[in-house]
Amino acid sequence: MSTPFDRPAARPARSRAERPLDLPSRLPVRACTPERPAADAGAHAPAALLAEILALHDALVAAPTLEPGPGTDALFTRLVGLAVAPRPGHVVDAVLADPELTGRLPDLRARCSAGEYALERAWARRVLAADDPAAALERFPYLQNYRDLTRIEYHAVAGHAPLAPRRALFVGAGPLPLSALLLARHGVTVDAVDVDAEAVALGDAVARALGDDVTVREGDVLDLDDLADYDLVCVAALVGLDPDAKTTALAHVRAQMRPGATVLARSAHSLRGLLYPVLDVADDGLGGLEPLAVLHPHTDVVNSVVLARVPA
Ligand SMILES: C[S@@+](CC[C@H](N)C(=O)[O-])C[C@H]1O[C@@H](n2cnc3c(N)ncnc32)[C@H](O)[C@@H]1O
Repeated sequence: MSTPFDRPAARPARSRAERPLDLPSRLPVRACTPERPAADAGAHAPAALLAEILALHDALVAAPTLEPGPGTDALFTRLVGLAVAPRPGHVVDAVLADPELTGRLPDLRARCSAGEYALERAWARRVLAADDPAAALERFPYLQNYRDLTRIEYHAVAGHAPLAPRRALFVGAGPLPLSALLLARHGVTVDAVDVDAEAVALGDAVARALGDDVTVREGDVLDLDDLADYDLVCVAALVGLDPDAKTTALAHVRAQMRPGATVLARSAHSLRGLLYPVLDVADDGLGGLEPLAVLHPHTDVVNSVVLARVPA
């Protein structure tokens, strides 16, 4: 039986002759998709998939800007589509084991982070400039992703704690602080912080314009203190772009919270790890927090969710 934070049961070791590629024993990111016969083997061929990912990265590197626009949107839409498409596990493992791709992952994630920030900034300005801000927000291409993700998260947290969360802090709110606003619409009192002054100014104005009772303040996760009043602290996927930075952030948050409170950290699985850093629950990547559950969506919802508890 698999426990919440175990990766899918390891496949029986295959002889070297059977293995298509020489996989290292422990991959930084692994597939968590069941082995399924590939409907169209061609499209799932690791080499073709790898070539397309590397070509997309080359295009992002060559792009004159990561600001939203027809060219940039097409590149990111293709990358996100490719990352969430269901694929056989061994294909995902083979692609993610490629040394060329592994070497490029930090830069690819950094460009995805910059692109996501630029997209949010553009849409925050669009929402603020609109006569009807709520109607303008409805046209944001990833709104449903955030609606689905925060709904999954709220119920997962409520399901793993004696009481549903009443007060929460969202760390890494962004210029378009959708997660904080949508969590508040589940009846939680939400505060939000961001290290970037522009994100704070835009995010706070968006909350006002939409009539949400969420305040966005400036702050680096590592400077946060006295978080004892929060039942829940959520850490955005782009807070800590590498595993060590993420673990350090979680260890700091843990030290400021009261025992028994919940931490929700966004992560990623399979090819979604091209876009976001992956939290390694098994290797104490949680900074001393007690793991409770790991949720890997297999829908269009991009992020995985790691739930953890502050130990006594
Ligand atoms: C682009 S947003 C994405 C979150 C998205 N808006 C949401 O609602 O889920 C991520 C934000 O995290 C912020 N961030 C990154 N590192 C941080 C840190 N160490 N402390 C606080 N915020 C941070 C960035 O400035 C960025 O605005």
